[in-house]
Amino acid sequence: MRRFVYCKVVLTTSLVWVLVDVFLLLYFSECNKCDDRKDRSLLPALRAVISRSHEGPGEMGKAVNIPKDSQEKMKELFKINQFNLMASDMIALNRSLPDVRLDGCKTKLYPDELPNTSIVIVFHNEAWSTLLRTVHSVIQRSPRQLLVEIVLVDDASERDFLKRKLENYVRTLELPVRILRMEQRSGLIRARLRGAAATKGQVITFLDAHCECTVGWLEPLLARIKEDRSAVVCPIIDVISDETFEYMAGSDMTYGGFNWKLNFRWYPVPQREMDRRKGDRTLPVKFGSAAEPAKSSTKTTGAWPKSGWMISKTSSISYHQIRNVETNQCVDNMGRKENEKVGFFNCHGMGGNQVFSYTADKEIRTDDLCLDVSRLNGPVIMLKCHHMKGNQMFEYDAERLTLLHVNSNPDCNRSRAQQWLLRNMTLSV
Ligand SMILES: *[C@@H]1O[C@H](CO)[C@@H](O)[C@H](O)[C@H]1NC(C)=O
Ligand SMILES: *[C@@H]1O[C@H](CO)[C@@H](O)[C@H](O)[C@H]1NC(C)=O
Ligand SMILES: *[C@@H]1O[C@H](CO)[C@@H](O)[C@H](O)[C@H]1NC(C)=O
Ligand SMILES: *[C@@H]1O[C@H](CO)[C@@H](O)[C@H](O)[C@H]1NC(C)=O
Repeated sequence: MRRFVYCKVVLTTSLVWVLVDVFLLLYFSECNKCDDRKDRSLLPALRAVISRSHEGPGEMGKAVNIPKDSQEKMKELFKINQFNLMASDMIALNRSLPDVRLDGCKTKLYPDELPNTSIVIVFHNEAWSTLLRTVHSVIQRSPRQLLVEIVLVDDASERDFLKRKLENYVRTLELPVRILRMEQRSGLIRARLRGAAATKGQVITFLDAHCECTVGWLEPLLARIKEDRSAVVCPIIDVISDETFEYMAGSDMTYGGFNWKLNFRWYPVPQREMDRRKGDRTLPVKFGSAAEPAKSSTKTTGAWPKSGWMISKTSSISYHQIRNVETNQCVDNMGRKENEKVGFFNCHGMGGNQVFSYTADKEIRTDDLCLDVSRLNGPVIMLKCHHMKGNQMFEYDAERLTLLHVNSNPDCNRSRAQQWLLRNMTLSV
């Protein structure tokens, strides 16, 4: 019975809309016959307004090409910031950008009650147009209630326009924008920490000083943090050409993360993540547990710049130091690359090249490389981790202190040369 009533309601509603459509169609087809004046006053005028805002240089993320006769000047200006400053200065501070998200992402719903965020942007002698395009894009494309403030940290810039002129400009914006100045050149990390310490929002977002946020950039990131306050999140980062300022969609087949030296890197999304998401690319790629690089120890906050990431206010990294009992030296990647031998060096406890991780998959991992032995008595080399165990599986016995390469099934004797101390280490950052 109830179902019947429900159907009736649906039918009636549909009918009403069909009638409205017919009416509108009739009205506008009638209007085709009207005089030109009336015609122009309606839709075309609206269309003109829309297209005008999409016509300026770089609008909709299009490339800006500098005419031949200005190329010399362009090359001169390029040197100032190592990008095409002339093109950047031609583009509106609030230029429009395409929405390159997957359709499934455009229609996704997020909780109403998301944590709010402070945006921290560090700059050093940044160009006016790129810096303010960053600021405008944040204000323009973030839900207002989620934004607490923007904190600009000036890492001892020398350019005049970044002083009083910038202060006056940001005062006119509709969002509180504060400018902190480092007394001397301190580097990105110190400047970010200074900015972070001054924030009032629940989540801290770090952005580069020359990026542009697109519509819907913020909500999914904050939604992950709402789900899990210890989440460290990072979006897909698209690319803005340094030559033409064209907006180019990036791949969703890579993910951003930290290597074991806490440098930000892009990695290909592994098959197991594709499987876990069952082909739904609107779901986040997740990493944790076994290969988790950094464990946050206190209040987690957010961030993601061009080299996107979220970081905690204070955090630490846990790793394993692998010390040989006889030589007392530590396994050290010696800064070598893939396919090269792993080395040994005096243990220094400072992380760096001695940061290894004995994972739940029983790999011995340094950054995205794993120790790999392909033949008995062969050298131990570093290869991309494949998570297939095999040549990269080592069985650690914490009693006997043996680290057995299972695949090559060696005769393990109890000599001290074959004993290893796996020590848990913590570095704060
Ligand atoms: C940018 O700002 C100008 C001036 O306020 C405005 O006319 C224009 O429509 C804006 N463009 C976009 C894409 O919002
Ligand atoms: C941010 O959210 C917290 C918790 O809901 C609230 O107390 C605070 O007032 C919010 N800040 C702003 C500026 O909205
Ligand atoms: C144990 O192995 C080491 C190195 O492979 C070798 O030099 C040593 O002689 C072996 N010791 C015994 C008791 O077999
Ligand atoms: C090192 O840490 C791992 C996991 O974090 C833990 O299971 C193990 O017991 C620790 N080992 C020592 C010696 O503390």
